[in-house]
Amino acid sequence: MKQTPETVILLNFGCKDIQKFARAIRDRHIYTMVMPYTVPAERVMQESPVGLIVCADKEVPARPEARAKFDALKLPTLDLSTGLGEVDAAVRFCREKCGCTGRWTLENFIDEAVADIRNQVGDRKVVLGLSGGVDSSVVAALIHKAVGKQLTCVFVNHGLLRKNEPEMVQEIFARNFDMNLCYVDASDRFLDKLKGVSDPEQKRKVIGKEFIEVFAEAAAKVDAPFLGQGTIYPDILESIPLDGNPNGVIKSHHNVGGLPKNMKFKLVEPVERLFKDEVRAVGRMLGLPSELIDRHPFPGPSLGVRHVGAIERNTLAMLREADAIVTEELIKAGWYHKTWQTFAIFVPVKTVGIKNQQRSYEYVIAIRSINSVDAVTAQVVRLPWELLETMMERIVREVDGVNRVVYDITAKPPGTIEWE
Ligand code: XMP
Repeated sequence: MKQTPETVILLNFGCKDIQKFARAIRDRHIYTMVMPYTVPAERVMQESPVGLIVCADKEVPARPEARAKFDALKLPTLDLSTGLGEVDAAVRFCREKCGCTGRWTLENFIDEAVADIRNQVGDRKVVLGLSGGVDSSVVAALIHKAVGKQLTCVFVNHGLLRKNEPEMVQEIFARNFDMNLCYVDASDRFLDKLKGVSDPEQKRKVIGKEFIEVFAEAAAKVDAPFLGQGTIYPDILESIPLDGNPNGVIKSHHNVGGLPKNMKFKLVEPVERLFKDEVRAVGRMLGLPSELIDRHPFPGPSLGVRHVGAIERNTLAMLREADAIVTEELIKAGWYHKTWQTFAIFVPVKTVGIKNQQRSYEYVIAIRSINSVDAVTAQVVRLPWELLETMMERIVREVDGVNRVVYDITAKPPGTIEWE
């Protein structure tokens, strides 16, 4: 989707901060795109760029042989092959050498995205899987703004959601958008399939496969030719290998590859060129509340990967309760927005303790709090001791079956953020 005629392309010759840099230039109302140095020159020209910026770190030489094909385009080019330097200098180049007037704003983006969706969809129907996460919620709001009741959102409850989450998501979309929302409570189906499954990868597979089946069944009823998707720009950038070597991929862009073959959808991906914080800003402009927009990232398999070992309904309920307490106390103490993710984990180990002046033999809950910029590495947050104590006291008092709370002090690496 083309949003503005004033596109400046950052050519990535091996530069770890390139996404941040591209994002920072956008803050100055100049639209940037990032492409690997291996991109064919014709692909660059498809975007009708007004200028190019060659980006590399010191350690990584900006390969002269690859430069030649871009030089041949005769576009204004800024050479940052010895390091990115100040954003100001790049912005000056865009204004003075490329003639950018600074028309890129998220308000303009919304207007153009809405027009594009209307063009693409016409009077036909769109179906969208709503997870309650930021990206799918913003896409729902955007497509709804464009085509209203032609959009049906399918919200699958796989039984692994957080406390009050199904109610909250339905309430927000019903109240704010008067949206066609198909809620499928498939908890029993998922939890039955997960019975006795303790291997982390197997759990993910069961959840993923079941999810696709339930979603496909609900989507088939809508009979829509279009499928909305919450793909965002980093999903795309991180799935393009810089030098054609697939080992360089940070993560694979997971799209609808798993949907049954007879469901032939055309995709509507209106935020595929936005960075995460731009997606959040668009969501706010469209009226989505902060409780949805500013939430911590939450994995697709949800509480399933925070419950170590086989999932039982009673132990899952312990985790859900403990997680709600951790979040509530974190918000109350003003720490929610100071951490990237903070959550509870159920540990299927029983230890001896004393509850109500009697011996108890109950389960363990772990608390994990991390900060990160990209989830690729993470540092442990030193939450105030008093806050941890409050969480611990409430968990052992209010969650039946738990008598011990521990704090995870493992960074990533060597740990991952989630326990499974
Ligand atoms: P890990 O555990 O790999 O997590 O350090 C990195 C980030 O990704 C999130 N995560 C997932 N998100 N589906 C998702 O949508 C998943 O299967 C999944 N696994 C982990 C995790 O919460 C963290 O932010």
